[in-house]
Amino acid sequence: MTSDTQDLTRVGPGTVMGEFMRQYWLPFARSFELDADGSPVRIMLLGEKLIAFRDSSGRVGLMDHRCPHRCASLFLGRNEEDGLRCIYHGWKFDVDGNCVDMPSVPAHQDFKDKVHAKAYKTFERNGLIWAYMGPREQAPPEPMIEATLLPEDEVDIVMVQRDCNWLQAIEGDVDTSHAGFLHNGSVEADVIGPDHPNWHVVHNRAPEYQVVETPFGTRYGAYRNAGVPGKKYWRVANFMFPIWSQQPAAAFSMHVHARGWVPLDDTHSMLIQIFWKEGRRVNGNEMGNLKMGNGEYVKLRAGHNYLPTTTDWLGRWRIAENESNDWGIDRELMRNNEHYSGIDNVHLQDQAVTESMGPITDHSFEHLAPSDQMIARTRRRLLRAARAFAEQGVTPPGVDDPEVFMGARSGNFIVDDSVDWQDAYREQVKNAVRPVGAAAK
Ligand code: FES
Ligand SMILES: [Fe+2]
Repeated sequence: MTSDTQDLTRVGPGTVMGEFMRQYWLPFARSFELDADGSPVRIMLLGEKLIAFRDSSGRVGLMDHRCPHRCASLFLGRNEEDGLRCIYHGWKFDVDGNCVDMPSVPAHQDFKDKVHAKAYKTFERNGLIWAYMGPREQAPPEPMIEATLLPEDEVDIVMVQRDCNWLQAIEGDVDTSHAGFLHNGSVEADVIGPDHPNWHVVHNRAPEYQVVETPFGTRYGAYRNAGVPGKKYWRVANFMFPIWSQQPAAAFSMHVHARGWVPLDDTHSMLIQIFWKEGRRVNGNEMGNLKMGNGEYVKLRAGHNYLPTTTDWLGRWRIAENESNDWGIDRELMRNNEHYSGIDNVHLQDQAVTESMGPITDHSFEHLAPSDQMIARTRRRLLRAARAFAEQGVTPPGVDDPEVFMGARSGNFIVDDSVDWQDAYREQVKNAVRPVGAAAK
């Protein structure tokens, strides 16, 4: 593995990307996953084995699973009366990690004031629980990813674990040229006609790209002839530090969403996707409206086949299809061209190809094409920012200035050939709908 790949993909304590990620707030659970005085939950995050619990007052604790006495796992602990009590010798810890009871030690030898569990700061907003695993005494401001600022009842939140490194997972989101194949390979342009939202994608499956750096990350614009003289069809999407993407598959103005790829450890990640319901209702789901060559609608399976949640470190939000069952690929569906990929679910199509790369993609084996320039630029931007932090202590983008993320939107639009795409983007952002629930900007 090259040192670049190593620095990009390793997320444990002391690694370049791991320390970079620890400067940001990261979401790790839905609010409903933790009940007051309920069972503690095992959480793997940035390669650390943690225990999450909600105390009697509703506050969330997130701490190293090892009891600071003699390392019995606090997973086994009793969650009672505003704290988690280790079942080995009864020591008890509050959500901030303070030892509040040390009943196995005679009162005159009690030293609970000197004992702290390794606890991380958390906050809860709109149905998601976030953690700050960095070193600051005072945590940075709460992140301003627009979709996460919307009230829980205005958004759809979906979580799915993916069994591979976080980087190859998010690279799937900014790899727009796969849309004409993996998701739409069996869809024919002359059958669906130019009014169909996916016509552009299948009419020209080899778009050209522009990529730029932004204050919050990177942005690409992929363009094609719009089928109208003098106009271009643009699909614009973003990578946002450190784990977020926005995709282009909807009309720009209403498309409020974000997809976070939270690294659980080096070889597992958790998708946390947030969609503004109203925008989704207006846009529909482009992938869900495909016609195939014979003019019939493709039968796409919606949703996910979740496996039962277990108490394992990696036991939440798993789906049934994985490498052991070939992700459910159906060669008959492939042969009759009902699905180019033989897989009948859009998320699963992405899951299959990304997990099939192996736990961590070997970048030295790749041959990146001009159509991969967003991936190449995003890797470079990530490496530069992560190394600048590691070597010179440069604060990572958006940590202290989270408002930069409010300028990020994605989607598709058609503009005159003569219009610069960056100008068109700014115009689109200016005219985009801001949901009522979000902080105005
Ligand atoms: S190991 Fe936890 S109280 Fe002793
Ligand atoms: Fe995809």
